[in-house]
Amino acid sequence: MLTSLGDLFTTKRVIVTVGCGGVGKTTIAAALALAAAQRGRRVLCLTIDPAKRLATSLGLREMAHEAQEIDPALWRTEGEGTLTAMMLDVRGTFDALVTRYANNPQTRDRILNNQIYHSSTGADFLSQVAEFLSDLQSLFGGFRERASKVRDALMASEVAFVVVSSPDPMAVGEAMFFVDHLQKHRMNAEALVMNRVRQAEDLPTPSADRLAGLLADANIPNATDLGAAFSRAWRDMSTWARRDALEVARAQREMASVPRHAVVPTLDEDVYDLAALAHVAQRLV
Ligand SMILES: Nc1ncnc2c1ncn2[C@@H]1O[C@H](COP(=O)(O)OP(=O)(O)O)[C@@H](O)[C@H]1O
Ligand SMILES: [Mg+2]
Repeated sequence: MLTSLGDLFTTKRVIVTVGCGGVGKTTIAAALALAAAQRGRRVLCLTIDPAKRLATSLGLREMAHEAQEIDPALWRTEGEGTLTAMMLDVRGTFDALVTRYANNPQTRDRILNNQIYHSSTGADFLSQVAEFLSDLQSLFGGFRERASKVRDALMASEVAFVVVSSPDPMAVGEAMFFVDHLQKHRMNAEALVMNRVRQAEDLPTPSADRLAGLLADANIPNATDLGAAFSRAWRDMSTWARRDALEVARAQREMASVPRHAVVPTLDEDVYDLAALAHVAQRLV
C-alpha cells in the first residue's frame, strides 16, 4: 500500500474524485491539481458545480465556462506547469447533445423550447409532458451510444479514480460502495483519501481544576467555568480523534484492494486559499 498519489501525475491524464457530499472531493481535486501543476504538468481543474469556494481558494473571482488561468506568480516556484480551472456548462452541454441527436430541427426546437425542459409549470402541463417524453424518446439511441462511449473512456488506463471519504461511518460505507462499483465496472480505483480526519496529541486530558488554576494565574476572568469547558473540549477532541483513527483503520482494511491510501487531517480553518490547498496537497503527494 502506497501513501503517495504523486505517481498518478506521470502515469495518468485524467483524475476523477468521487465520494459523497461534503467529504472534500472538490478540495482534494483542487489540491491535486495544484500539486500536479507544481510538478510541471499542464493542469485543468474541472468541476460541475458552481463552487464559489473553489474559485476563491484558487484565487479566482468566480468559475467560468471557459478555462481561466491561475496566475503562476501565486503558486509556481519552478518549472513550466500551468494551472487552469473551469466549470462544466452542464446546461450548454445538454443542449448541444439535444442538438446533435435530435432527428430533425423541429424535434430539436420543441425539446429546447419545452417548458418542462425549462422546469417551469405550464397550464397544459400534461400535454407538455407527453410531448416532451415522446420527443426525448427519439434521442435515446444517441444518448445510449454516448453513455457507452463515456463509459469506455472512463475505463481507459489513463483515467484514475480517487475515492474521497471522511471518517464518518456512513461516508465510509458510501466509499466502499464506490470502490466496489468501480472495480465491478473495470474502472481504476487508484486511491482512497480519508479527509477531514480529526487528530489530537495523545496526551492525558488536564483536569478542570488544573486548567482553571492556569487561567486564574494568567488573570483570565471566569477561570473556573473556562477551565471546565476547556477540559471537556479537550476530552471530546481526544475521543473524536480516537474514533476517527479507528474508522480510518477500518476503511483502509475494507478497501485494501485500492493501491494508494492517504490521510488528510481536518485543518483548523476551511480551505479557502492556495496556501491551504498546498497544505492539503502535502498530505497527498
Ligand atoms: N481537510 C479539511 N480540513 C478542513 N476543512 C476541509 C477539509 N477538506 C474540506 N474541507 C471543507 O469542507 C467543506 C466541503 O468540502 P468540499 O471539497 O466542497 O466537499 P465536496 O466537494 O465533497 O462536497 C468545504 O467547506 C471545505 O473547505
Ligand atoms: Mg464539490
